[in-house]
Amino acid sequence: MNRVEGGDKVTGRARYAYEYPAADVAYVHPIQSAIARGRIRSVDASEALVMPGVLAVLSSAEPPPLGSREDPELALFQTDQVAYHGQLVAAVVATTLETARDAAERAVRITYDAEPHDVLLRADHPGLYTPKTVLPDFPAVSELGDVEAALADAAVVVDATYTTPTMHNNPMEPHATMAVWEEDGGLTLYDATQGATADRDSIAKVLGLPPDQVRVVAPHVGGGFGCKGTTRPNAILAALAARAAGRPVKVALTRQQMFDVTGYRTPTIQRVRLGADAQNRLTAISHEVVEQSSTLVEFGEPTALPTRVMYAAAARRTAHRLARLDVPTPSWMRAPGECPGMFALESAMDELAIAGGIDPIMLRVLNEPATDPESGLPFSSRHLITCLREGARRFGWERRDPEPGIRLDGRWLTGTGVASSTYPANRQPSSASATVEDDQFLVRIAAADIGTGARTVLTRIAAEALGAPAERVRVEVGDSALPKASLAGGSMGTASWGSAVVRACEALLKNGDRGTADTTADVEADSGFSRHAFGAQFAEVHVDIDTGEIRVPRLLGVFAAGRILDETLARSQFIGAMTMGLGMALMEETVVDEESGGFLNHDLAQYHVAACADVRDIEAVWIEEEDPYLNPMGSKGIGEIGIVGTAAAVANAVHHATGRRIRDLPVTPAKLL
Ligand code: MOS
Repeated sequence: MNRVEGGDKVTGRARYAYEYPAADVAYVHPIQSAIARGRIRSVDASEALVMPGVLAVLSSAEPPPLGSREDPELALFQTDQVAYHGQLVAAVVATTLETARDAAERAVRITYDAEPHDVLLRADHPGLYTPKTVLPDFPAVSELGDVEAALADAAVVVDATYTTPTMHNNPMEPHATMAVWEEDGGLTLYDATQGATADRDSIAKVLGLPPDQVRVVAPHVGGGFGCKGTTRPNAILAALAARAAGRPVKVALTRQQMFDVTGYRTPTIQRVRLGADAQNRLTAISHEVVEQSSTLVEFGEPTALPTRVMYAAAARRTAHRLARLDVPTPSWMRAPGECPGMFALESAMDELAIAGGIDPIMLRVLNEPATDPESGLPFSSRHLITCLREGARRFGWERRDPEPGIRLDGRWLTGTGVASSTYPANRQPSSASATVEDDQFLVRIAAADIGTGARTVLTRIAAEALGAPAERVRVEVGDSALPKASLAGGSMGTASWGSAVVRACEALLKNGDRGTADTTADVEADSGFSRHAFGAQFAEVHVDIDTGEIRVPRLLGVFAAGRILDETLARSQFIGAMTMGLGMALMEETVVDEESGGFLNHDLAQYHVAACADVRDIEAVWIEEEDPYLNPMGSKGIGEIGIVGTAAAVANAVHHATGRRIRDLPVTPAKLL
């Protein structure tokens, strides 16, 4: 089945937030803080306000009234305190975008009292502390047995520190909002969001409006990867600016502005210690993470979380510590936790295999746990070993000579690497409605299609539940006026929305013409099993012996993710995420400028993301996995697992090719020379 909105997208009929028309629309250009810490001494907008076309200037000189200041990242212009470089401190509203930008850049004068800032994460940062929990609500520390004693007794030990840099989500569609205040006091926002329901609720709260007075419309969203999973300042700014200007207002953050105000993945410093006995069975696992948050909000990326699920050992310790720096608040980025955490753990497993003289796949086979090592619960299904074996067969692993640094093909050193993947299979409460008229079914749910094909897979799910051909089913998503739904996030969209859609369709079949359902009850029953998808990542790399240039001619991912509901959409999710993992391995890094406290590289010219041409042969396959303990579809989420482990597979392959173990991402030529 083709994407149901495919025609609209390729012909340009599909509208994104910024593209909605409105009469007398005005435009906003935000002004960002030039210091990383301190206070705003003065804002002089007098010159801007007399420019033809300028309608208003917003700043903390006149704080706009808000309903809630609880989230300091959204409580715009409420304080003269500056918490990070690039924070929104003012904005110009004008009749044209050019006027707004010109006035913002030339005619609004802001002076600051700067204070010394602290923007660099270090393993010995004096401010490090252990938070109570990491997100969303896991204990920051988990301990079993005596790790130090077990490491002292181990036959083989790996003790290594891995780092991952600050990384930024770069969806194709930058954050944008159009805000329209209706005559009855209601507010309609066309917003780039991963969830219209949650976006509506958080905007209503910040503005002090009842949620039913706010409507968020987002039928098409050009990617998110987490940065559109929570309401961003552009939405609040659009609403405030539209109120100040007395007309509809559009805000489009530039790519550069996005780097400062739409979130990023925290840098991490991860010490992993593994101990094994003479038979290569793990006896000790320790994963200690140092990461950052802002002074405004505690955001604790759950980086060591996957280590609690992957392998068992009698002595285990996972711990997170945070430093609160003068930086923007980190946020969600594809597979938060699992993605950086599995780079460290799966690199360390590779090092342990080499230290123990065993094949890295065999090491994982030997250490496959029977139950969830952390909770003791049975897995609803776990086919990691099947994925590793199937991948080994397809990749030609049995022909691999484990010796590093010995294969020279012309000027290229060649090598291969493997790593495991995992991601939880969760659900969140959602609701849906289903109706029928003249043999046409209409299913409505405030789900988000962020480029994943959510509409299409929900059409298939509904058609199957109704026993009707897909042509007779229409699915409406992307509007908070539809039955409330969870986010397109945490790889939970299809499982959460699909559950609601199936229930609504079942109710419709029972009632004859109308069905509505709320799957809260279903989701509450999700206990008694540890539910995760698993996978295996294989990479081949070529490294130029003179320049250190790294090429990745081959990537293979094999996944066990329950029932795959749509092969085309699934493949796109897997290879898209694997490509993003390749970018993480070799390219992605946001550099902090110690002097200004801001990000140095903040556009696609200097922050490189991997594209199709960066990998010649990329393949994602999956194994048949029946799991009755998940949801009515039997599916696990597939949006994030593809990025998990990819960077480790590439770095492990670089080691195999060159004999050089690079523990600090990205693996750049400079690090190999
Ligand atoms: Mo994703 S980081 O759960 O949007």
